[in-house]
Amino acid sequence: MSAEQTKPSLTGEEFTASLAEENRVALERLAQLSTAGEPTPDLSIERLLRIALKNELEASEVAAIWMSTTSELDVKLALARQTGDEAKHYRLIADRLKALGVDADRIDPREGGYSPLFEYLRALQSTAARVAAGQFTREGIALVRNQCFIDFCEALGDMETAALYRDVIQPDEMQHHELGRRLLTLYAATENEQQVARQAARRTLELAEEIQEMARLKAGISRAPGC
Ligand SMILES: [Fe+2]
Ligand SMILES: [Fe+2]
Repeated sequence: MSAEQTKPSLTGEEFTASLAEENRVALERLAQLSTAGEPTPDLSIERLLRIALKNELEASEVAAIWMSTTSELDVKLALARQTGDEAKHYRLIADRLKALGVDADRIDPREGGYSPLFEYLRALQSTAARVAAGQFTREGIALVRNQCFIDFCEALGDMETAALYRDVIQPDEMQHHELGRRLLTLYAATENEQQVARQAARRTLELAEEIQEMARLKAGISRAPGC
């Protein structure tokens, strides 16, 4: 343990519990913002599923980038699983779009560039920051957003899209989030790691909120699913 990595005042478990509480407050706010305002008539499920494709691609790609540069074996394997799961979500959503009459093969979610959240996450180097931001927090955001989207689908009577999210996608996102929680207790064990992890989680939430607000103000988009 180096000089900066002094014995932390919180254990990994205590730190994770405190970060969970901090995130819970921020996520409640994000959920409120996600459902703010009456949906405009042109806010269709198809439109929101297109945004979902972009989020799934970015989640898969970040996990893949990190996998190759993370040395801890359990984290590396967790990232490998996430890479595959998010790619599977992409395919399921593309299939759902096709069933709704959209030519999903012609959609390239990279048009318009990657999001600022993607750029932020991909640059994170420390395992504690990656697990805190990418798995524990981003997947926590996905759970909240997806639930808002499920409610919206049900309100519009699209039970099939709602079921896809509720029964297939959400259990995976929950698994990613819970894996993040477990890995965080292991890899946010020093004062320095805890500081880096908390900062990364906060910045992830800030960026998610900024992107969401921008989409709402510029394009009237709300209730979009996460990843
Ligand atoms: Fe996920
Ligand atoms: Fe996903």
